[in-house]
Amino acid sequence: MSDPILSLRGVCTNIAQYHILQGVDLQVPEGGVTMLLGRNGVGKTTTLRTIMGLWRARQGSVSFDGQDISATPTPAIARSGIGFVPEDMGIFSDLTVEENMALAAASGPIKPDRLDWLFSVFPPLKTFWRSEAGNLSGGQKQMLSIARAMVEDRRLYLIDEPTKGLAPAIIATMAGALRDLKAQGASILLVEQNFAVAKMLGDTCAVMDDGHVVWSGEMKELSEDATLQERLMGLSMEAT
Ligand SMILES: Nc1ncnc2c1ncn2[C@@H]1O[C@H](COP(=O)(O)OP(=O)(O)OP(=O)(O)O)[C@@H](O)[C@H]1O
Ligand SMILES: [Mg+2]
Repeated sequence: MSDPILSLRGVCTNIAQYHILQGVDLQVPEGGVTMLLGRNGVGKTTTLRTIMGLWRARQGSVSFDGQDISATPTPAIARSGIGFVPEDMGIFSDLTVEENMALAAASGPIKPDRLDWLFSVFPPLKTFWRSEAGNLSGGQKQMLSIARAMVEDRRLYLIDEPTKGLAPAIIATMAGALRDLKAQGASILLVEQNFAVAKMLGDTCAVMDDGHVVWSGEMKELSEDATLQERLMGLSMEAT
């Protein structure tokens, strides 16, 4: 197997005086989708933020494409090819959809074929292209947030709960877009509470509990083992 595109070894992150991550070991294989699962509050978001350098690991290493990025400034991490979709979406409400997208395209105007693809997977973005992002529905804001990360080809995408709080039809749109991105060969680390989506998209999987990874393996293995799911994640996963 080829080297993982992203690798965390023994990552410990403190927030204020709290030891939130306590030795996270995590690998994301190149060209696949790795699900990051676990109950609420176990450190999934903190793990993504630590990879981006938004929190700093106190101990351990984060390497991306063979380079140690544990001390790299966040903008440089983003420029090196990691797209990040935060849990709180991070869009600009008083700017239009078009302006939000233009700001996300760091290397110049958006390529027309990339925009056509984004419009095809997220049709509301085309419809509301010149509207203020603040006026979009919750699901449409989530589409914009993900589209901003996808506006340019990245080596790796970190996506935090893209289907949270969305209606089933929008979840299907979101899952379809992620499946498309995966089919293009992107590497993705995806936090997801909806187990049906996790099962559909995931190749490999890491389950966190209490600030570290307690199980990792093939998504298929976890999805076929209800006892293991119950033990690792209790009832926090949606039974859909
Ligand atoms: N800014 C902060 N200040 C203090 N504690 C924080 C902060 N951010 C996160 N924490 C704590 O860190 C722990 C891990 O939080 P994190 O957001 O990483 O969990 P999570 O697995 O993403 O949870 P969820 O599934 O609810 O999104 C939690 O106990 C949380 O309360
Ligand atoms: Mg979270």
